[in-house]
Amino acid sequence: MAEGDIFDICVIGGAGHVGLPLSIQFANHGKKVCVYDINPDSLTLIERGTMPFKEKGAEPLLKKALKEKSLSVSLNAEVISLSRIVIMVVGTPVDEFLNPKTGDLFKILEKYLNFFKPGQLLVLRSTVYPGTSRNIYNYLRNNGKDMGVAFCPERIAEGYAIEELVKLPQIVSSFTEEGLKRTKELFSVLTKDLIELSPEEAELTKLFNNSWRYIKFAAANQFFMIANDYGYDYARIHHAMTHNYPRAKDFPKPGFAAGPCLFKDTMQLSAFNNNNFILGHTAMLINEGLPNYIIKHLEGNRDISSLKVGILGMAFKGNSDDKRDSLSYKLKKILEFKCAKVYCSDPYIADEGFVSSSELIDFSDVVILAAPHSVYKSLDLKNKPLVDIWNFYNGGYKI
Ligand SMILES: NC(=O)c1ccc[n+]([C@@H]2O[C@H](COP(=O)([O-])OP(=O)(O)OC[C@H]3O[C@@H](n4cnc5c(N)ncnc54)[C@H](O)[C@@H]3O)[C@@H](O)[C@H]2O)c1
Repeated sequence: MAEGDIFDICVIGGAGHVGLPLSIQFANHGKKVCVYDINPDSLTLIERGTMPFKEKGAEPLLKKALKEKSLSVSLNAEVISLSRIVIMVVGTPVDEFLNPKTGDLFKILEKYLNFFKPGQLLVLRSTVYPGTSRNIYNYLRNNGKDMGVAFCPERIAEGYAIEELVKLPQIVSSFTEEGLKRTKELFSVLTKDLIELSPEEAELTKLFNNSWRYIKFAAANQFFMIANDYGYDYARIHHAMTHNYPRAKDFPKPGFAAGPCLFKDTMQLSAFNNNNFILGHTAMLINEGLPNYIIKHLEGNRDISSLKVGILGMAFKGNSDDKRDSLSYKLKKILEFKCAKVYCSDPYIADEGFVSSSELIDFSDVVILAAPHSVYKSLDLKNKPLVDIWNFYNGGYKI
């Protein structure tokens, strides 16, 4: 470490879904890490050895790192200047018009500018609008900060970061040879499988990866809707499509495709290509339209204004406690407009007005399984009519 450095790495946004598992893994691979964040509640939990969100296998490693003093937390931005490497992984959302909020990252950089120092390496880990990394590199240089800048996208599936960070290949990119060398040294403690790209190639790779996944889900949802509209059992068709058939091996099953990444990254790619991304937009209409499709089928030709509906699972995906951009909430909003009463339940999310799963089943005329949490397998549904777009209970896709 250079003189004055206390930490190998400071992670700005280190208490988040990407920042924290990454911090924990670096701290368990020989690095001295400081988690810097503006969320005091999360930092208090982390300091006590408790994960602020569900992340498989993370808590024992967090406790170990705290005990060994390889991980600490701070609410004080000064820790940035005490670190050799700074990783930045704050949220990069799109706005209400689905345009990337490209200015947000710069506002944060501006806020911390005085804490950056020449010779540091800044690693951008958030998914960014293409060209952002170069703009940041130029911005820092224009402000007298002669630092290395790298873009190394996070590609984990939320909830599985701990195992995937040391399993997945890592994309590395920087603007100088020295920056690339230091970036490779940094990530080689987690994986030897490094892929070198230019920053712009790396930015596009991340957006292509997420958009591709989003488009695949849309294809699955569209096929399901076609089969269902014609009265065919999609479970049988999906099995036939994929069973021992290598070219359709990774064809996904239908279900809510949502969460904080896929939708907004598809929209970032579209904005980058001057809104000329018809596949992405179509995928968005199909995936975001699935709640409406369910309700349309629930209605059929009847009046549902006196119906009481239960939504089981409010997280954006099964076994997660993350409700960001969850389609369960969209479903709830439309149902509240049309039905007499909507009950919501999720074992991992504490929200005002939620009921337990057994209350939900008792109170509702019909139950919609929105997030397929494994714990629901043993739930007694008491023969209530069920909408199961996941074929979770192996009774076929029920709608
Ligand atoms: N969640 C995922 O599975 C996933 C996967 C790959 C990539 N990504 C990308 O990673 C980025 C972060 O996503 P996330 O899910 O971790 O978000 P998150 O909201 O869980 O974490 C962001 C963290 O940044 C903190 N923060 C916000 N402003 C800050 C500031 N000014 N200074 C310090 N800390 C600040 C927040 O308090 C929060 O803890 C996004 O670009 C996202 O697209 C996410």
